[in-house]
Amino acid sequence: IPVDPFDLVIFGGTGDLARRKIIPALFRRFCAGQMPDDSRIIAAARSEMDDDGYREFAREAIAEFGKKSADNKKALKGFLKQLHYVPVDAKGEGGWESLKSLLRDDENVVRAFYFSVGPSLFADLAKQVRSHELSTRESRIVVEKPFGHDLESARALNEELAQHFHEDQIYRIDHYLGKETVQNLMAVRFGNMLFEPLWNAQYVDHIQITVAETVGVEGRGSYYDKSGAMRDMVQNHLMQLLCLIAMEPPARFEADAVRDEKLKVIRALDPVDPDQIVRGQYTSDGEMASYREDAENATSKTESFIALKCYISNWRWANTPFYLRTGKRLAARASEIAVVFKETPHSIFGIDSGRHRNVLSIRLQPNEGMTLGVTIKEPGPGGMRLVDVPLDMSFAEALGPEAEEVTDAYERLIMDVIRGNQTLFMRGDEVEAAWAWTDPLIEGWERRGDSPKPYDAGSIGPDDAAFLINRDGRRWRGIK
Ligand code: BG6
Repeated sequence: IPVDPFDLVIFGGTGDLARRKIIPALFRRFCAGQMPDDSRIIAAARSEMDDDGYREFAREAIAEFGKKSADNKKALKGFLKQLHYVPVDAKGEGGWESLKSLLRDDENVVRAFYFSVGPSLFADLAKQVRSHELSTRESRIVVEKPFGHDLESARALNEELAQHFHEDQIYRIDHYLGKETVQNLMAVRFGNMLFEPLWNAQYVDHIQITVAETVGVEGRGSYYDKSGAMRDMVQNHLMQLLCLIAMEPPARFEADAVRDEKLKVIRALDPVDPDQIVRGQYTSDGEMASYREDAENATSKTESFIALKCYISNWRWANTPFYLRTGKRLAARASEIAVVFKETPHSIFGIDSGRHRNVLSIRLQPNEGMTLGVTIKEPGPGGMRLVDVPLDMSFAEALGPEAEEVTDAYERLIMDVIRGNQTLFMRGDEVEAAWAWTDPLIEGWERRGDSPKPYDAGSIGPDDAAFLINRDGRRWRGIK
């Protein structure tokens, strides 16, 4: 369904995010017929450039990151025509009037301002947009993570933005929420009778959330070394996944109904004991650099890997462990949420039949899809032997060739901004609650001066991470 014509201003329009994600995502939506011809995309940044220069930048970005859509030359011509560029000084006066003249003077046209810049500029930009009277009733701003560095800075940022925009105009992106499977998780939970009755401490043994990456921090060392895996991944992406898997059914699939439920989960999280957290840092594998080399900090104590066990103290999840782990330079790129159900209370097949547990695995990437592990009789005449087999549903296969190129998170999220749907965006209080949970954990290891455990690049993380779960009589699921 096409959205209404809109004006979108991308501050930081020549940056990496615009090149890799925003421009290619807009183009794919254009190809899909969702973006009306008379929409305007105005890139704004510091450098001097004209419309043609920017169109060339966009053409290259699409060739590199546009996937299949890059072959659609006819559409490309039409899309590029909608692009404009204006040099703007985020902190000064330069360029704002020219920017204004490019926006349509129509109160009903959606005007979105995408702050694809470092967080230190968010407040300045919000103020400038307001003081130059660029914002209308239909205006909204989009901000990227990191949203603050801790509770205090996140609060300050929320307050600054609130001086210029209402909460319902602020779209805080967590791109994990835009991933196809993440939304499917909600469809599976709340669209089926099958799972929800079992979705609680009585039937679920534990839940594992893994986001494993093969990339290191090369090129982003100076940012990453001040954040580490906890701030970069856990405080936002993993906690959002945790919320969606653990929340109560919202009454409606609407922004505040969903976000209220997520907030309750975060607030019900117990503090984590230091011995339930394992931090790691990758070492060189001979070929690729170590974390410390990538970060250009020979004594860095920042973690590139973290595993932890936490509990949600509420009626549904009391005493059910949630194991979270994420890291860079691991053996494979694999993100998965696994709901591991309890064993049957009694085996009628005797002790030889082994221990069997149903596992619902929700794969975010690669091969988006879901697998339900079920126990059946091993085929053949050999008696009553039990085996676990996967009921596999890869989305690409199940939905046919159309689904092969799964919609990128940014495509969905940007269109949601235009439509004014905040369901997949974080509310200010959610972000603050997430920091309120992570801050004491970070302060704890900083105060103790803990060093992360070294782990080999290309491995599955430090041995202690395995120990964290093995000592509970459980195992991590493989990431390969
Ligand atoms: C970003 C983090 O938010 O998410 C990166 O800053 C990380 O460090 C990235 O690599 C992972 O995203 P995806 O979509 O590739 O899983």
